[in-house]
Amino acid sequence: MEHLNQEKSAEADVQATPEASATKASRKVFVKTYGCQMNVYDSDRMTDALTNDGYEATDAMEEADLVILNTCHIREKAAEKVYSELGRIRKLKEEKAKDGKQMMVSVAGCVAQAEGAEISRRAPVVDLVVGPQSYHRLPELLNRASNGSKVVETEFDIEEKFEHLAKPTKEAVRKRGVTSFLTVQEGCDKFCTFCVVPYTRGAEVSRSVEQIVGEARRLAGAGVREVTLLGQNVNAWHGEGPDGREWGLGELLFELAKVDGITRLRYTTSHPRDMDDALIAAHRDLDILMPYLHLPVQSGSDAILKAMNRKHTRDEYFRLIDRIREAREDIAMSGDFIVGFPGETDQDFRDTMDLVERVGYASAFSFKYSPRPGTPGALLEEQVEESVKSERLSELQALLAQQQQAFNASLVGQNIEVLFEKMGRREGQLAGRSPWLQPVHVNAPAELYGEMATVEIVSSTANSLEARLI
Ligand code: 5AD
Ligand code: SF4
Repeated sequence: MEHLNQEKSAEADVQATPEASATKASRKVFVKTYGCQMNVYDSDRMTDALTNDGYEATDAMEEADLVILNTCHIREKAAEKVYSELGRIRKLKEEKAKDGKQMMVSVAGCVAQAEGAEISRRAPVVDLVVGPQSYHRLPELLNRASNGSKVVETEFDIEEKFEHLAKPTKEAVRKRGVTSFLTVQEGCDKFCTFCVVPYTRGAEVSRSVEQIVGEARRLAGAGVREVTLLGQNVNAWHGEGPDGREWGLGELLFELAKVDGITRLRYTTSHPRDMDDALIAAHRDLDILMPYLHLPVQSGSDAILKAMNRKHTRDEYFRLIDRIREAREDIAMSGDFIVGFPGETDQDFRDTMDLVERVGYASAFSFKYSPRPGTPGALLEEQVEESVKSERLSELQALLAQQQQAFNASLVGQNIEVLFEKMGRREGQLAGRSPWLQPVHVNAPAELYGEMATVEIVSSTANSLEARLI
C-alpha cells in the first residue's frame, strides 16, 4: 500500500519576525510521502514545523525551494523508489540552478534512519538526511545544511520528538479535512523476523493520555470528526493516565469518546497478542468506535508463525477472532499477509489460504516476502523462489479480492451511516466512508461535507459503494 501525500499550502500560527519574513516568506516546501499512515502523519508535522518557520507548502515540486521525501523501508521496492525519484530530482535541481535558483533536498523517514550517510554518498543531490525521531529539529537542521555541508541526523529520542512536535494551526487542520490521524505510539518491541520497524522506528514509546486527549481536542476544535489513532503496534499502547496509572488502549478509547465533536474513532495497526479484554470491551460498548479491525496475522501456518516470531498459533488467532465477533457481531476484519517467507512449503501456504477462508476478510493487504538487511529472516537459508512467491501471491490475492467483493455486495439494500469527507469525483457528488472503511459515493448537496448522513446502498464494486440519501 502506498499513500501519496501532496500538501496544500498552510498558514503559520507563529508570526515570523519581520527580518525572517522578509527572507523566508516566499520559500516553498514540497513533501512527498511513501509508505504507511504514520508517514502521512509525520509529513503533516514536518509541514507544520516548516510553516511555523516561514515556509509555505506547495503541491508542485518544480516550484519548491525545499523537497522532502518521507520514505519507507518496509520492502525493498519501497526503498528503491526513493533512489529513482532522487535521480529525477537531481535533473530538476540542475535545471533550476541554470536559472540561478536553489533547491534543497532532504530524505526523511525510515530509509533515512536505516541508511543514514550512505544516502548522500549514493545520491549527492541530497543535502539533509533526517530520521523519524528528529523532525522537531528540522528548521535548525536545514539551517545547518544551507551552507552546502551535508547533514545527517539519525538520533533516537522519540519522547523528545513528541514533546516538541509542531502543532498544526486551525487553518492547516481545516485544509486537511474532517478525518485525521493521531499518533499515540511509535516503535515496536516485537521483532518479527521479517520486519525492519524495530530498527528504523526504535523501541516502543507511548504518548501520555494528556497529550493524546489534548491533540484530539485541538483537532475536534478545528472541525475534525473522525480520528484514527496510529501506532506501529497501536494496541500495545500503554500510556500514563491523569491518575498516574498506566492505561491501555481500551481505556484511552473510552476517554476519547468523551471529546466533544468527535463522532468516529478508529485505530491501526494491531498485533493479535495485544488484543486485551478491555479493548474488546470497547468494541462492544462504544458506538463511536468503528466496527473495523486491521489485525495482521501474516501467515496461517504454525511453523511459519513460529519462524516469523509472531508468538501465537493459528488456533489462538481463531479463538481471538471469535471473542471479538462475540463482542461486536458486525465487525469487519482486515489484515496483512506475507507469502514466501523462508521455508514456506506448499502446505504452509495452503494453511494460509485455509485461514483466509475461515476468517473471511473485508479487505486485506498481501505481499511477497522481501528480505530486509539486518533482519533475522534475511539470513535464513531456505529462501523461496521468486516465481513461487508470485504464484502464491496471485492465488491469495484472488481469494482476498473475492471476499472483499462479496463483503461489499452484502451491503447492497442496507441503510448505513456515512461521514462525508471529500467532494465526489462527479459534479453534485460527495464521497464518504462507511463504518467499515469502504469509500461511498453519494449524490448529495455540498453542505453535507463534514456531516454524517444515513444512506441506502444501491450498488457495489470491488472497491467501493454507491448510495443514495434517505
Ligand atoms: N517483506 C514483505 N512484507 C513485509 N511486511 C513487513 N515486512 C515485510 C517484508 N520484509 C508487511 C507485513 C506488515 C506490513 C506493514 O508489511 O505484512 O504487516
Ligand atoms: Fe514489524 Fe509489526 Fe512485527 Fe513490530 S509487530 S516487528 S511493526 S510486523
